[in-house]
Amino acid sequence: MNIIFKDLFNKEPKEIIDDVYYYGSENAGDQFSEEEIREQYETIFDRVFKNGRQIYPEAFNEIAKKVVMLNLPYMEIACGPGFGITPFIKNLNPNIPSLITDACPYIVKYWNEYVKKNNCKGYMNFASFDNTNMPLKDNSIDVVTSFLGIGSTRINGDDDMKCLKELYRVLKKDGYVFTIESELEDYEMIDSIFKSANRCNYYHNPKVIGTLKERIEKAGFAIVETYNVGRYVTNAEDSEIAALAISQGKEFAWITNAYIFKK
Ligand SMILES: C[S@@+](CC[C@H](N)C(=O)[O-])C[C@H]1O[C@@H](n2cnc3c(N)ncnc32)[C@H](O)[C@@H]1O
Repeated sequence: MNIIFKDLFNKEPKEIIDDVYYYGSENAGDQFSEEEIREQYETIFDRVFKNGRQIYPEAFNEIAKKVVMLNLPYMEIACGPGFGITPFIKNLNPNIPSLITDACPYIVKYWNEYVKKNNCKGYMNFASFDNTNMPLKDNSIDVVTSFLGIGSTRINGDDDMKCLKELYRVLKKDGYVFTIESELEDYEMIDSIFKSANRCNYYHNPKVIGTLKERIEKAGFAIVETYNVGRYVTNAEDSEIAALAISQGKEFAWITNAYIFKK
């Protein structure tokens, strides 16, 4: 672990294996098995690392350019198998120090293995921890990046605020968050799909908890910039609820926005 990041942790990891810090968060994130991640390692890691995501590539590149211009160490949260904004950042400047994180230990294990094997580790460091309980000191991080990291944080509290509150705590004063996030286009319609299928709706109502922009501001951040990135209409294969929407003749869409905000 690069000294830049080593000094920012506020507690010892449960385990350090191959320089990756593990904080015992295997039950917090998406509970992928090691086999699932190994399969993705063999199928998508290389493509994602070299070309980045193929969904909204211009938006990812725009965000990456802004991160690179700051030229500060950054932390990618909930990197997932897609590696978030990092492929685009590394493509522009491979030497920016980064701390890449996800609650799922196998994701960081295999990304660490991938970058080592492909001689592109450079200044990349890896840790596995929960976004709602980050083992980091207050006011310690300059920049946070993510793709869907805030929206896909599991067990994020009834008001979906836990991750945002942690980000506010660990970010330095004047520190930045750059994230691309998706929100339901029409909550009421999704609710009606769940109701007519006699299923429990697991999405939170933005009229009750606030839109993501409202929650970012509620956490104490100032929005610097936000813009629409695209609209995605789900396919039946995307999820059970997407298949139900189609069977009910309804269109289930996600609206994706880029958010840049500051402490
Ligand atoms: C849909 S992916 C996010 C997309 C990802 N950034 C990408 O580029 O593919 C969701 C990720 O969030 C992680 N995650 C979910 N809850 C988390 C939490 N509480 N703390 C940290 N990571 C979490 C999951 O393990 C998973 O890898």
